[in-house]
Amino acid sequence: MANSSRAPGRSRRLRTALVVSAAVGLLATAGAVVLPGSASAASTLGASAAERGRYFGTAVAVSRLNDSAYTTILNREFNQVTAENEMKIDALQPNQGQFNYGNADRLVQHARNQGMQVRGHTLAWHSQQPGWMQNMSGTTLRNAMLNHVTQVATHFRGQIAWWDVVNEAFQDGSSGARRDSNLQRTGNDWIEAAFRAARQADPNAQLCYNDYNIDNWNDAKTQAVYRMVQDFKSRGVPIDCVGLQSHFTGGSNYPSNYRTTLSSFAALGVDVHITELDIRNAPSDAYRNVVNDCLAVARCKGITVWGIRDSDSWRSNESPLLFNGSGQKKPAYDAVLAALNSGTPPPTGNPTTPPPTGNPTTPPPAGSCTATVTPGQVWGDRYNTSVTVSGASTWSVVVAITAPQRVSSTWSGSFSWDGSGNIMTVRSNGSGNTFGFTTMMNGNSSARPQIRSCTAG
Ligand code: G3I
Repeated sequence: MANSSRAPGRSRRLRTALVVSAAVGLLATAGAVVLPGSASAASTLGASAAERGRYFGTAVAVSRLNDSAYTTILNREFNQVTAENEMKIDALQPNQGQFNYGNADRLVQHARNQGMQVRGHTLAWHSQQPGWMQNMSGTTLRNAMLNHVTQVATHFRGQIAWWDVVNEAFQDGSSGARRDSNLQRTGNDWIEAAFRAARQADPNAQLCYNDYNIDNWNDAKTQAVYRMVQDFKSRGVPIDCVGLQSHFTGGSNYPSNYRTTLSSFAALGVDVHITELDIRNAPSDAYRNVVNDCLAVARCKGITVWGIRDSDSWRSNESPLLFNGSGQKKPAYDAVLAALNSGTPPPTGNPTTPPPTGNPTTPPPAGSCTATVTPGQVWGDRYNTSVTVSGASTWSVVVAITAPQRVSSTWSGSFSWDGSGNIMTVRSNGSGNTFGFTTMMNGNSSARPQIRSCTAG
């Protein structure tokens, strides 16, 4: 709550700063200034994005800041940076208790000098852990992780606009499960513990969950992250944003429902960021679509490409970026700039006002919805459960009860049972999107109801 009341004012200040700094940067470099409201087109990615209340950023490898061709493009085109590797756990705490901020501080200083915003990447991750952390487990690891979050977020307090607090914690494929890792094995609450520690250490940074393969709205991984964010918002875990890495392997890999994914996350009351964009062979169409999708969603705050020139890319053999190895603009660059320039500026007023809760601006795929269980009060012989449906205003939810447990009373839905009495179908009855019921344990105190399906309509 405190956070959502803070975000709009802060966002307006950031936007103003971005526009001013972009204009100043243009004065210094391009000699052509485009002020907000001007009819002429901005000539750089950052300036154009700023006119639309967004940022356009890039991952930066600090060692390349000595390359003047690289730095010239960086300073001219981008108004946001992410450290490609220098803020990872192994880089910042190579030995336990010994922090090494040199390279990261250099990037933050460069960004500050150029009026660029900084995304911190990343506080807690199964990968790029230093050897000492890889060998840890249980409470020792949990405490070491939380200490890392606290120390690092405190060190950079006031200098980081967004932290990728947790990176890549879900499995690929159809399971929708968490990724197995030493961090996950410390307990399922490790992610929310990391977010709480980050909020405490830097109350002004926006806190994001960041992942790849959460671009297609129909993917189990996307749905699983969506449910986690929904759960965090409902329980007051301090999460402000979701980062979609968006490493696309080809034009066909850009999903046509990408905008649905962005708007559905946004409808949960979080901002969305495209954090590591690169596309195999840099097809103009796919790049253009990504920009248009972001501009169509008010809470999509900006786009970061994962490197400047193809030769800087972690997959340089796929030529996935906007500049070639000689620093020349590629056709995809022109497509991105044109899409940014033709986007409408954000509405005046308060563009970060969250949409009505429970109503995604774009509905989930036809026919589906999400049902989230919230355990209620427990007595010696019975317990309550409530279920909240999102993604549809009329719905039916199938819930399985484990015999010999039996539902004894219900509310806020229309309930029916199959012949066994174990499978319950609940239909919306106009009394809202949350229904509830009491279950008699009948000797089985551990089983809990399972959602089998949620169908819209
Ligand atoms: O700098 C050393 C060099 O001194 C050494 O000789 C060489 C030998 O292996 O390694 C160099 O470090 C490499 C570093 O990139 C800098 O090039 C690491 O081995 C290599 O593991 C590291 O890869 C990075 C990768 O994350 C793993 O952390 C990539 O640059 C970076 O682009 C990539 O970024 C990730 C995001 O953090 C999360 N999302 C996916 C994305 C792509 O994998």
